This record gives sequence, structure tokens and C-alpha cells, in this order.
Amino acid sequence: MSEQPRKILVTSALPYANGPIHLGHLLEYIQTDIWVRFQKLRGQRCTYVCADDAHGTAIMLKAEEKGISPEQQIAEVKADHERDFADFQIRFDNYYSTHSPENRQFSEMIFQRNKDAGYIVEKEITQLYDPEKGMFLSDRFVRGTCPKCKAPDQYGDNCEVCGATYSPSELIEPYSAVSGATPVEKQTTQLFFDLPQFEPMLREWTRSGSLQEGVANKLQEWIEELHPWDISREAPYFGFEIPGYPGKYFYVWLDAPIGYMASFKNLCEREGWDFDDYWKADSDAELYHFIGKDIINFHGLFWPAMLEGAGLRKPTAIYSHGFVTVNGAKMSKSRGTFIMARTYLDHLDPEYLRYYFAAKLNSRVDDFDLNLEDFAQRVNTDLVGKVVNIASRTGNFVKKFGGVLAAQPDNPLLVREAQEAAPRIAAFYEQREFGKAMREIMALADHANGYIADKAPWSLAKEDGKDREVLEICTTALNVFRLLTLYLKPVLPGLAERAEAFLDIEPMTWGDADQLLLEHPINKFKPLMARVDMAHIEAMLADSRDTNPAAPADNGADNGADKKKDAEDDTITIDDFLKVKLRAARVTKAQHVEGADKLLQLTLDVGELGERNVFAGIKAKYAPEDLEGKMVVLVANLAPRKMKFGVSEGMVLAAGPGGEDIFILSPDSGAEPGMEVR
Ligand code: MSP
Ligand code: ZN
Repeated sequence: MSEQPRKILVTSALPYANGPIHLGHLLEYIQTDIWVRFQKLRGQRCTYVCADDAHGTAIMLKAEEKGISPEQQIAEVKADHERDFADFQIRFDNYYSTHSPENRQFSEMIFQRNKDAGYIVEKEITQLYDPEKGMFLSDRFVRGTCPKCKAPDQYGDNCEVCGATYSPSELIEPYSAVSGATPVEKQTTQLFFDLPQFEPMLREWTRSGSLQEGVANKLQEWIEELHPWDISREAPYFGFEIPGYPGKYFYVWLDAPIGYMASFKNLCEREGWDFDDYWKADSDAELYHFIGKDIINFHGLFWPAMLEGAGLRKPTAIYSHGFVTVNGAKMSKSRGTFIMARTYLDHLDPEYLRYYFAAKLNSRVDDFDLNLEDFAQRVNTDLVGKVVNIASRTGNFVKKFGGVLAAQPDNPLLVREAQEAAPRIAAFYEQREFGKAMREIMALADHANGYIADKAPWSLAKEDGKDREVLEICTTALNVFRLLTLYLKPVLPGLAERAEAFLDIEPMTWGDADQLLLEHPINKFKPLMARVDMAHIEAMLADSRDTNPAAPADNGADNGADKKKDAEDDTITIDDFLKVKLRAARVTKAQHVEGADKLLQLTLDVGELGERNVFAGIKAKYAPEDLEGKMVVLVANLAPRKMKFGVSEGMVLAAGPGGEDIFILSPDSGAEPGMEVR
């Protein structure tokens, strides 16, 4: 690259210091890390900073519950977070904390500048107060019914069902999430950031190409109803006290994004870099924030406004991603799919997850499904079966025939094709279209494998006088292999490092795609990556189930989240349950199914719902004659399912672990077919 390197500052959202990193978080940190590694590989001056988000009521209460100081709490969590990130090969240039002197100083400065410019207003408001606990209840610690859509059990600041934002005192039947007490209203003076004054700037900024389309649209909606933002909280609170306002603290979301600056400042001090060069209003550095879709308003409205009000630069772009689901559903503690980073690491290689995330990521805000079978298959097929296979099928022959690559590849076109893909793959990385980049790379791997299969160097190696030919074939294959591991390096730095050791080359950079590796001695081939074993995935799920006994009641206090109903919450409401139509049914006919060892075919009389045909896996326990005339409980409104043997029109409920220990019969004392069952 001949032009000047770009100056790029990148952040991921700061994880809360009240709990461990889980696979949901990792989507974000891995996505960001891949992008940053790509930029660095290209020779850009790219810096990646992050920090723990250490303030707020949730963390204060968490420490209290554990009987430790908040400082101790955040120190312990930070150490765990850093270890988890490091083990997933997420390489920050600095990882800091919002509870830091730099952050205090910047928070005070940004507050003061906004105040001097007339953007901070004082307002007397009525706030909810927990008379039992003796504290004001910040938004997240008041729960109640949404004033707009009447959804029960919503947080005090916004409704997760209809998206309305409101103040906690507008909630219907509010209660304290800390003690359960009914809050009382109390007058206080609070400080507000006067967001409506920034409306023209925000309108322009949200349309300036800094945001993904869906995000820009969502923000446009919010801009229609901007209101002043309450940035102060009453003691007791863990955070920074506001200068000139004893007993009042900056709200955690005021100092959290400032934590990006504080972390960078801390790095600048260490490295002797010019902080202002990146943050002054007319800076030519690029600034990108990677965040989840749940915190768009903070980054797309409040943050640019605060920066503008303080005379600082605004972000170049905000890159939002969706939420992780596992096997098509919200991560769930009871299903064992609420997987902590550490639990994953106990069983699986972090590079598997990095690859799977990359293979399915795009630049949009879509949710991301981690399907564990697909995960295993994708990694095994692509990485082990395609990429690593190129080296494992050719690596040993080079060693056998002198250990040095040939002076030329026997198929220069194949190598050229792989070289020419570099700019396309780079463009996909740049646009965060990682899935497309991975598909390009795998297509090249397919070509190489087809070529190797055609040439069958293992047969030639047995013939006399074919040494040179074999070496040239292997030289072709290993040059493609080298290029592919280079292209994969942002995603799989560990694999790239092992490939570099095997090929005995310096750490690769993007520009190396121009050159070939010829007449170069290489090392003995060692296996580069193992296959994913489903048994390890099962063990990880079992472990996750164990380390997460029953999900705690979501009172916002004991599971810590300061802001969102945890993604793992899979309880259903009574209304959800009532959607399941349970009906008594009489087995009028039961018969064996040709070719099925476990199934019986049942004909059921469901009273006024008519007759149903159901296949049930109960043969190990019941003979057809045991069942005829007996009553069972049927899920009557299950969508019909086409099976190999016919269509099953419902499900018969059973108790017991399965096999011979299964119980489906319902006492039929007085039960009539079609009767509702509860
Ligand atoms: N502390 C705030 C961010 C402050 S940034 C100035 C916060 N912390 S968090 O720990 O709840 O989340 C950190 C990041 O992880 C957020 O961007 C969030 O969207 C993301 N994720 C948390 N759970 C997630 C999933 N289940 N799936 C994908 N991303 C998720 O928010
Ligand atoms: Zn609502």
C-alpha cells in the first residue's frame, strides 16, 4: 500500500462488570476483532479499545449481595473478562474500566462543556422511591405494566413489547425490583441533557451514511419524539459524583461511552500518542463503534449529541448486529444453551466459533442463529475437510522429496486465481460481509482439492522418476494453501500461525498475496486442526445446564442486567401456556407401524374435535391391546407433521424418561373425549 495508512479507532460495547461473558457477547467481540485484524493485516493504523462498564445500580447491588465492595466486584469480573477475551483470541490494544481517573476527568469535562453551552437543564421531578430499601429507583429497577400497550412486567424506561419509552412514574402498578415494595413518589431535582436542542444535527447525522439502513430508520422515528434525558442519579449509586451536585451521580449511560475515550486516552499516555488528533472536532481519524441492536439509541442519539455539545468529533459509523439465538431459540439456561465463554473453552476450540460466526455474518442487523449441528458440520466440512486438507494431502511429500518447494508450480493458473481473489475478499471484509469472504475462500479451496484429487500425488509418489512432478504439484497446492490461510488470518489467527510455522515463513500480511513461495524449505507437516466432535458439544451443553441451575427470577437485581431482560429468560406466561390446547382423547385403535421400531399408530377420538391420527414413540412400553379403549392427553392444536409413515395430527403427552419408562395413560374417571384438560 503506497498511500498513507488510515487512522482508525474501533470499539466494541463495554460489557457490564456484573457477570461473565457469554456466547451472545462474543458475536460482537469476535466480529469486531476480525474487522480490526483485517485492517491491521492491510497495514492500516487501526486501534481497538474496550473496557468494562463498571458503574450503575446493578453492579452496586451485585457487590452488596456478595458481601464485597463494588471495587472488588469490578476487579474480579474484569480479570475474568480479560481472560475470556484473550482465550478467544480477541486482541484489544487496550482493555480498561469506566471506573478510572481518565473516565472521571472526561465525564466531568463533557458535562461541564455541555453545561456551559446551555445543554444541561435542571428539573424538579417526581421520582419513584423504594421506602423499604431507602433508595431512589432508577428506571431499570422499577417494573410494572406498560402505559401504552399494557404489557405486564416491563422495565421503568421502555417497553420490550411495543418499544414505547416513558418515565417510570407512568408505569401502571409499579413495584420495586429491589425489594418488591410498592414505590412511593418523591420530589427531587435532577439534571437533564437537553437532547431536543440537537434535533437538526441528529436528523442530518443519521442520514449521513453513518448508519445501516434499518438503524437509520429506527432513529428517525425516535427523533420525532426527542425529550430531555435524565443524566443524574441519587445516592446510593456506584459511579462518579457530579461536581457541584453533592449526592448526585452521573447516570451509568452518561459515562459508559465516554469510557471509549478514557480507554484510548490511557493507551495514548502509555504509547505517547496524540489523543486530540483522534477526538478533535475536525479529526481525520475514523471512529467506529460496534454494538448490539439493543443499545442503538445510546450510540445513535445521546452519544453524538454529547460529543457535539462538547465540541468533539462524532463517530464515523455505528455498526450494529443482531442477537444470538442457539438452535433457533433464545439462549436458555434450562436447555443448556446459555453458554458462557469459559464453558465453551472447556470443551471446544475457540477458532471453531470464530469461523462459524464469520461464515454466517453479514453487514445487517439480523439476529444470528448458532445451530450447533450446522456449526459442527460447517467447521468440519470447510476448515478440516477443505482448507487444512490441502496441506495434509501434500505436506508430507515435500518432506519426503527433499523438503524444499519446487521452483515453479505445475499449475500457475490455479495459484493465480487464488491471488486474484485478494481484492474481492478484502472488499468483503471491509464491508463486514464476512460470510461472502468465507464463501470466496472455500470456493478456492474446492478448486485446489479438485486439482489435488485429479493429480493424485500419492500415486505418482510411488512411481520412479516422478519426484519433480510431485514437488510441483505440492508446490501448487501449498501456495494456494498459504494464500487461503492468509485470507483467513483475521478469522483464524491460530491456524495462520501454525501454517506459518509449517511453511517456515514470517507472519503473513495482506500484501504477501502478491508473492509466491518457491524453492523454499518447509517443515514437517503436523495436523493443523481437529474435527469438531458432537460429543464435546453435548458435554458443553450438559455443563451449561449444570452451571446454570434454574434461571433466577428476573427481578433485575439478582441476575444483574442493568437494562435488559436477560436473553436467557425462557419462562412463558400463563397466556402462552393457555395457547396449548390440551384435550382428553380415547384410543379407539392402536396398531404397529411397518418398519418402525418405536412407533405405534393411534387413532384417537377427540369428541367434538373429531378423529385424529397420531404416531407416538411408545412401543417399548405399550402393546396396542394395552391402549385400546383407554384415555390419553392430547396436544390438539399442534401443527400436523408429515412423517415417513403418514401425517401425525397432534401429540400424546407422556411422563417418564422414555423407553420402557413412559406413561401416557390418563385416568378416565369421568373424562370424556374432547374434554379440556389442565
Ligand atoms: N454496558 C452496556 C454497553 C455500554 S457501551 C458504552 C451493555 N453491556 S452488555 O454486557 O449488556 O452488552 C455488551 C454488548 O454485547 C452489547 O453490544 C450487547 O448488544 C451485546 N450482547 C449482549 N447479549 C447479546 C446476545 N445475546 N447476542 C448478541 N449480542 C449481545 O450493553
Ligand atoms: Zn408496551
